[in-house]
Amino acid sequence: MLRCIELGKNGLGSTYPNPMVGSVIVTNNTIIGEGFTSAYGGNHAEVNAINSVSDKSLLKSATIYVSLEPCSHYGKTPPCADLIIKNKIKKIVIGCFDPHEKVAGKGIQKLRDAGCDVEVQILEKECRTHHKRFLTFHEKKRPYIILKWAETLDGFIAPDKNLRKKNPEPFWITNKKSRQLVHQWRAEEHAILVGTNTVLEDNPKLDVRDWQGNSPIRIVIDNHLKITKVHNVFDGSVKTFVLNSIKESTNSNENIEFLKLDFKNNLAQEICSVLYLKNIVSLIVEGGAKTLQSFIDANLWDEARIFRGNNMFEKGLKAPKIKGNKHSEQKIKQDTLTTYRND
Ligand SMILES: NC(=O)c1ccc[n+]([C@@H]2O[C@H](COP(=O)([O-])OP(=O)(O)OC[C@H]3O[C@@H](n4cnc5c(N)ncnc54)[C@H](OP(=O)(O)O)[C@@H]3O)[C@@H](O)[C@H]2O)c1
Repeated sequence: MLRCIELGKNGLGSTYPNPMVGSVIVTNNTIIGEGFTSAYGGNHAEVNAINSVSDKSLLKSATIYVSLEPCSHYGKTPPCADLIIKNKIKKIVIGCFDPHEKVAGKGIQKLRDAGCDVEVQILEKECRTHHKRFLTFHEKKRPYIILKWAETLDGFIAPDKNLRKKNPEPFWITNKKSRQLVHQWRAEEHAILVGTNTVLEDNPKLDVRDWQGNSPIRIVIDNHLKITKVHNVFDGSVKTFVLNSIKESTNSNENIEFLKLDFKNNLAQEICSVLYLKNIVSLIVEGGAKTLQSFIDANLWDEARIFRGNNMFEKGLKAPKIKGNKHSEQKIKQDTLTTYRND
């Protein structure tokens, strides 16, 4: 099962909204096949694992291990449970249940009804951690939320506005290595969110130019439609949702889509609800202070990743305040990266 998790990680960032499942096929204590979920629209892990077995006659005496319950419904691909039954694999070992409303135990039932021996909840904790994004999405009906920011030694997220006016160049708090790590994180998540002021003041691209993989779907808060075509988030290179109170797009196929929200309600909650409807499985929130604090105050976050640089601003915009379980601390050259979990 640990090998399934290891394999599944190969799908991180490319399978959304599907889970990144890993699967291993064993007979006589020997691995005869392995697979993981292909990029969205492609094969599920079990299909790839079965396809990788060169001598298919071995399948009837084999055990298939899979980190998540096999699906039982027709999506972009036929049900994996049917494929396992068709290949006469008699023993199935499953890491954790799939809460997706179209599966939710039906995959296991289908296998048992066909006479298969099914073992469930093997290394369940590790498999649930591996599938944390997918499970949060289906169980809590919102994306898995990672908060990320960088603060100075004296606790500022941005320098004083007057100082910025005098010097329009970006004021970096962290070093290049930390910033590259952030691009890696972006490639791992389904979507990225920033507030209006961050777009207007920093004009970020929110992409993965210092890493490889997919750039996440961009989500910007723009209540009064202040962001204009000159801003990088409107370059059309990546699907972008504009959360506002004025207009709704009529064509959801366009790369820039306007979604209307009620800004009088709890905004973090509103955002979670609309992103759930848009099938966004995970979200990295990268600022600014007001946007991050909205998610903290609404207790709508799962992880926080906070860099502390080695410099001081003395005056400026204070970093958000967070309480959670400290999970790890590491040095990235002179920066300190502290992570928190909200559990
Ligand atoms: N160090 C870092 O890691 C980091 C990261 C990102 C940004 N920053 C810095 O942070 C600064 C911007 O931070 P900020 O706090 O001023 O702005 P922000 O969070 O980027 O944007 C705030 C704006 O977004 C809208 N908004 C966000 N949350 C809202 C809510 N809960 N309810 C209603 N509207 C909401 C509002 O726009 P309206 O006023 O139009 O309604 C609000 O003024 C920039 O200087 C940027 O450089 C630093």
